[in-house]
Amino acid sequence: MKKISILGSTGSVGTQTLQVIEQFPEEFQVVSLAAGKNISLFKEQIKKFKPLFVAVYSDKEKDELAKELEKENIQIEIFSGQKGLLEIATASENELLIVAISGTASLAPTYKAIQAKISIALACKEVLVAAGSLIMAEAKKNGVSILPIDSEHAALKQCLASVKEDSALVQKVILTASGGPFWKLPKSEFKDITVEMALKHPNWTMGSKITIDSATMMNKGLEVIEAHHFYGLEYEKIKVLFHPQSVVHALAEFVDGNMIAQMGPHDMRFPIQYALTYPKKLCPDWARLNLAKVAKLEFYEPDFDKFPLLRLAYETGEKGGSAPVIMNASNEAAVSLFLRKKIKFLDIYKIVQEAVDNHVFLSNPTIEHIIRLDHLVKDEIFAAYE
Ligand SMILES: NC(=O)c1ccc[n+]([C@@H]2O[C@H](COP(=O)([O-])OP(=O)(O)OC[C@H]3O[C@@H](n4cnc5c(N)ncnc54)[C@H](OP(=O)(O)O)[C@@H]3O)[C@@H](O)[C@H]2O)c1
Repeated sequence: MKKISILGSTGSVGTQTLQVIEQFPEEFQVVSLAAGKNISLFKEQIKKFKPLFVAVYSDKEKDELAKELEKENIQIEIFSGQKGLLEIATASENELLIVAISGTASLAPTYKAIQAKISIALACKEVLVAAGSLIMAEAKKNGVSILPIDSEHAALKQCLASVKEDSALVQKVILTASGGPFWKLPKSEFKDITVEMALKHPNWTMGSKITIDSATMMNKGLEVIEAHHFYGLEYEKIKVLFHPQSVVHALAEFVDGNMIAQMGPHDMRFPIQYALTYPKKLCPDWARLNLAKVAKLEFYEPDFDKFPLLRLAYETGEKGGSAPVIMNASNEAAVSLFLRKKIKFLDIYKIVQEAVDNHVFLSNPTIEHIIRLDHLVKDEIFAAYE
């Protein structure tokens, strides 16, 4: 049995990861779980999956959970805060850590888990965007594998397997994007976009941060940087196409002109299962893709003027150093403000661009620099807009 811990078990990826584990109970054992504030769901997960210990957002949630578990006569150690995430991430029993917290809260725990020689299945793209070079180097040094959970990167792994991930043989890769809810909306109407409109993703049901990122196209920008780090591909080889059906998740074109595309239903359990069982292939009973029902597959060039954060992601990715750290941190802060209705949709673009333009560039930040910078940028933006 593979021994697994999950950071973010109550979220969209976290709950679907537990569905994969439930589907193959003979394959996996849950060592520990970390959640944020959703104590009622977390209690149910603890009852069902019987982790050895758990962590929650803060002492307030710890007290709440302890009371709930007492009623059920469940005795289990509960950690809280960043220390809690570190305990879960580096548990000596872990064989695989699922990183499914959105944002950079899981950056330090992921880094420490790698140093403890624990393999990672990574959903949280912000970790690679902020510290991709350091994370990948540390993984190499410790002989640890980092498997992608993001559907596009799991797709690329399958496409690139045919050339054993040799980037020299790759002409280009294409990450597909559904286009989100606004790709057909005229730019002149973006000023009237509300939180409710932005949370209506056409194809995927996901956490609120990634759903807003999909509406601004920042999500695809973060994925471009993620692909660069996962597969060592130059940015000019990483392309994006809008594909409203979300059936083809990524494609690779090789130097000889042949292409391989990966297809699947828009159901995250498939890429999650791929990461959890890799390199094994198991047979779940979820609905499969029916291509005759899909009938047509469309692809369109993205509009960089309408979605400037996609262009900014290429620019900051190319620049490297602290540039993507600032872009990511300012975007996290701006999305949080937008979700709480403190700013308008178009302010997200403005806040992120200004943060990137005004920051003092560091070419080789350490992990400590990155974490400090991340907090600093977020604090400054919150102080200005809250
Ligand atoms: N959802 C998808 O389909 C999908 C696909 C590809 C990639 N991803 C990536 O996967 C990551 C997670 O996305 P998601 O959609 O699953 O997000 P989500 O639904 O918002 O879930 C986030 C999870 O993290 C927990 N959490 C948040 N902050 C925390 C903290 N400081 N300490 C402890 N736990 C914390 C939340 O706990 P509570 O809910 O209990 O507060 C929840 O369990 C993101 O980086 C996203 O880009 C998601």
